[in-house]
Amino acid sequence: MFESLVKAPADPILGLADIYKADERVHKINLSVGVYKDENTVTPILNSVKKAESYLLENEQSKSYLPIEGLATFNLATQQLILGNDSPLIQDNRVKTAQAPGGTAALRIMADFLFNKTKTKRIWLSQPTWPNHRGVFHSAGLEVKEYRYYDPQNHNIAFDALLSDLENIPEGDAVLFHGCCHNPTGIDPTAEQWQQILAVATKKRWLPVFDLAYQGFGGGLEEDVVGVRLFANALPELLIASSYSKNFGLYNERVGALTLIAENADIADKAFSQVKTIIRTNYSNPPSHGGNIVAHILNNPELKEEWIAELTVMRQRIHRMRQLFVKTLQEKGTNQDFSFIVKQNGMFSFSGLTEEQVLTLRNDYGIYIVNSGRINVAGMTLDNMSLLCESIVKVLAL
Ligand code: LMR
Repeated sequence: MFESLVKAPADPILGLADIYKADERVHKINLSVGVYKDENTVTPILNSVKKAESYLLENEQSKSYLPIEGLATFNLATQQLILGNDSPLIQDNRVKTAQAPGGTAALRIMADFLFNKTKTKRIWLSQPTWPNHRGVFHSAGLEVKEYRYYDPQNHNIAFDALLSDLENIPEGDAVLFHGCCHNPTGIDPTAEQWQQILAVATKKRWLPVFDLAYQGFGGGLEEDVVGVRLFANALPELLIASSYSKNFGLYNERVGALTLIAENADIADKAFSQVKTIIRTNYSNPPSHGGNIVAHILNNPELKEEWIAELTVMRQRIHRMRQLFVKTLQEKGTNQDFSFIVKQNGMFSFSGLTEEQVLTLRNDYGIYIVNSGRINVAGMTLDNMSLLCESIVKVLAL
């Protein structure tokens, strides 16, 4: 039966990790997968996480199953982080959260819920978007369409085109937005633009859904949820897939969450019972370690403060690297204006490099960038910056 299968293409992001690992060049530079690295190109375990793990090791009493929706303390802390501690939505029991094995699983629960439990059969994604979005929603059965988002000439949001596409989306379809740090472009709507998008959503009655994978990597924990909170407070229904991979550095623990907001407590309760049937028939219930770490930190004021400080260090290092990247490209003699890179948010920079240039950088210089031209700025360091920029300038001149 299996002999008729053809080989699937490698994943455009994770597939690169294998090729990078096999590359024996000493000066190779990895700017592909969206993982934070410090000045020594190490993806650190945060001190706050280490402390929480020590606590758990000492105090954990049982390895019995978690409930289908995961840890109650994790779920409430997640709602508070996204919607605010005093959110009336939480007080009114309109919000339900399920702990999930990573942001990807949260997106998949969202997709299965929409396709199997609601009338929504189509979802609209930004063009461009994280490549796995298409796979996740398509695998669940949804028809996947795109709305215009990015203006490559001006390295900015194509706002008029975006609004005009959103105006034409039929009632009942779902529309996915990146809560912050848009992946791959690093360009987010301003607060004023979010208002305008919300006005279209309200008028056209399509369902906005959010992927919030980088809270804290843009302007800060509060600044990065301006759009999500605006929508949550104005609309009767919303779905949010969030991730703790990046902001807690818990990549391989797989910690994320699906948050559902409904018009009232009763509807929220019923809808969430359907979410739980999806989880039960998929992975049954989530693993506990990562969720326990997050819950312990977010519910302990001292550890939470330490975590916020560590998150700030990560965010600020990326911002410094953006500035240094632009400056070093200039020093190495580029005649192009790369100043737009400083204005982008989060880990990624949509560089404008073509696929051909990306492949030359990979093959001839050992520099790994995603084919779309997306660069993980967090992979840049004081040590590799000069070589990186020199190589890019040479390739641009070809
Ligand atoms: C990325 O975009 O590089 C990250 O979200 C990792 C992934 O799973 O693709």
